[in-house]
Amino acid sequence: RMLYGSSRLNSLGVNLADPAEREPLLAKIKQAAQQRWVGGPIVKGELHEARGTEVRNPSNRTEVIGTVREADIALVDKALAAAVPAQVEWDGVSASERAEILEHAADLYEERMPELIAYCVREGGRTIPDSISEVREAVDFLRYYADRARNEFGAGVRLPGPTGESNELKLRGRGVFCCISPWNFPLAIFTGQIAAALAAGNSVLAKPAEQTPLIATRAVQILLEAGVPPDVLHLLPGDGATVGSRIVADPRVAGVAFTGSTETAKLIHRSLANREGVIPVLIAETGGQNAMIVDSSALPEQVVFDVVQSSFNSAGQRCSALRALYVQEEIADRVAELLAGYMEELTLGDPMLLTTDVGPVIDPPSCEMLRTHTEKITRKARWSHAYKLKPEHEQGTFFAPAAVEIEALSQLTGEVFGPIVHLIRYQAHKLDKVIDAVNATGFGLTLGVHTRVDATARYIASRVRAGNVYVNRNMIGAVVGVQPFGGRGLSGTGPKAGGPYYLHRFATEQTVTINT
Ligand code: SER
Repeated sequence: RMLYGSSRLNSLGVNLADPAEREPLLAKIKQAAQQRWVGGPIVKGELHEARGTEVRNPSNRTEVIGTVREADIALVDKALAAAVPAQVEWDGVSASERAEILEHAADLYEERMPELIAYCVREGGRTIPDSISEVREAVDFLRYYADRARNEFGAGVRLPGPTGESNELKLRGRGVFCCISPWNFPLAIFTGQIAAALAAGNSVLAKPAEQTPLIATRAVQILLEAGVPPDVLHLLPGDGATVGSRIVADPRVAGVAFTGSTETAKLIHRSLANREGVIPVLIAETGGQNAMIVDSSALPEQVVFDVVQSSFNSAGQRCSALRALYVQEEIADRVAELLAGYMEELTLGDPMLLTTDVGPVIDPPSCEMLRTHTEKITRKARWSHAYKLKPEHEQGTFFAPAAVEIEALSQLTGEVFGPIVHLIRYQAHKLDKVIDAVNATGFGLTLGVHTRVDATARYIASRVRAGNVYVNRNMIGAVVGVQPFGGRGLSGTGPKAGGPYYLHRFATEQTVTINT
């Protein structure tokens, strides 16, 4: 059954194999990358960038790519004071007018794809193919939520009632939304949250990740240029403990859309629970302890190809990434051997080069956390294989992709956000125990299955409590409107981003009954 079919199309990709497409794009990206960028709070349309601090390139920490000024409390207050009355007007604008503005923004993002790619590469350390996907995802979010708003926030739904009475159900904006976004998708998730909140008739205070404020600044400039009123959308970069928690604690905020760690989501939840006078809504998309279950009927070559994509793409810095690879014992040695061989073929390096498969991790604390974890877990490992770093990697925060065989999933105490995959072998008759162990983590984001037995795939999918299940393919890169994305349990509150129910959580419902 096709749900909510529409004429909307996802954005077009770039054929990097075709020099006629590739070379002009690369030239434009390189030209855009020459710039030194400025970032800072944008409040009532005005960029505050004086006295900014330096932002560095994760693949070359000596390279300063721009400066950013953090928001202060006075700017947070100024943004809130403007956003509250502006929301009432914005909610009163027709859904199709709001949709048109978001669609205009999507066109501008597409037009400026080379510049936006340059930001993703230099500030986020994303490879060029990842950055292309990221811009496309941002464009898709803008168009998808515009389309959903036009369909569902336009005319209300007429409901039956007794003669002489009319009943209508309408979706309305909730008020001011605080959107807190992560650095791993500094453009796509940042834009997706804002687009959803705006489409549903809310005003927005956006707090981007501390690591990626420059691309957020550029994105907000484009959204304003597309026609989002300056009192409706404000950008407030800064750290979570001061800027983020100040916004979240304000009783004028009606809801928070957050993507990031489970710990931070819990902190936000606690803060919202303590509010006097309002019960704000929280939409949280958090981490995962994602597993792939591979039985002995699977084709090891395909498994390894999909494992490499799932664990090492984006340097493993995706909440969807594979962390625990369960392989049935009969083929475990073969999978390990092929995996080690494939890892040797990876190119770790400057994400500005198309030959690079794996770029840097985001910053020195991330690198340190990964180093500590890998050293500890490798000491107890039955088998491990790590990529060898070269002297040129020292200038950036590069972390060598690693595969480590462990005894049990319970050895992993939290999400390890980087290019490390943990292999666990299992015996066929213990499949239920594997499923129980995956469920026992409390996370429920993505799950991969590799098997040529359909009944096994269906059985595992029905028993594992995961939001996105991928069978016989990699388990990353959910596409807007195609694979609505998001988890359950410790992985998030739902609804799913890029899915038909997402906007509803940003909205409040109103029933109007008229005695005619
Ligand atoms: N939406 C992303 C993906 O599917 C998650 O980080 O990979």
